Amino acid sequence: MLDRPLAAVYDRISADQERRWLGDARRRLLADLRGDVLEIGAGTGANFQYYPPQARVTAIEPSPNFSKRAETKLAGAQAAVELRQADAQHLPFDDNAFDAAVATLVFCTIPDPMAALAEVRRVTKPGAPLLLIEHVRAQSSVHRFLLNLWGPCHKTLFVGCRLNRDTEANVRSAGFQVEEVRQLALEMGMVPVILIRATNAGG
Ligand SMILES: C[S@@+](CC[C@H](N)C(=O)[O-])C[C@H]1O[C@@H](n2cnc3c(N)ncnc32)[C@H](O)[C@@H]1O
Repeated sequence: MLDRPLAAVYDRISADQERRWLGDARRRLLADLRGDVLEIGAGTGANFQYYPPQARVTAIEPSPNFSKRAETKLAGAQAAVELRQADAQHLPFDDNAFDAAVATLVFCTIPDPMAALAEVRRVTKPGAPLLLIEHVRAQSSVHRFLLNLWGPCHKTLFVGCRLNRDTEANVRSAGFQVEEVRQLALEMGMVPVILIRATNAGG
């Protein structure tokens, strides 16, 4: 599998970022969750330690290489976390099954983000929060141009990760009501990482 080397080094290459700001951002994002929570693209399970005990988490991850590493984090979770192999574009859950959904650094990589957002909308209850941390396309056209040059290498190295997604616009057009958008960091001086709090608008 192409993602095997990335899964093997993922925690090491993110360690500095986690220490500087990402760990804290994860903790704050997840602190108030309760009920049945769906996490999409759990990766190595970096969020597991931050779920509060009142949440019951179903975490999906399509890659067996990432899942293997996420399994090692289950024991450190305060919440009940179940890990399942699944693709966000075809979620194996009933309509309205979840009280909330979470994804961190995932919508950059899902091949069809609109299909995944439609699935998240289907499986979450009307009014359910959707909590995201995502890197998104650069604000200036010069930065976008530079990142488009680097984009193909980045996509290969980081197994499908795109640097030019407009996830806020995608979330809005998928029928979520966006309550908060905040920039958390500017990586490499040009890649914004944002927090999005939205709710399933229902209907
Ligand atoms: C950059 S990692 C982020 C992992 C983790 N969420 C985190 O915050 O560290 C992106 C993850 O998205 C997963 N992913 C890619 N395509 C996916 C899909 N179609 N459905 C669900 N997850 C997907 C990858 O396997 C990988 O684990």
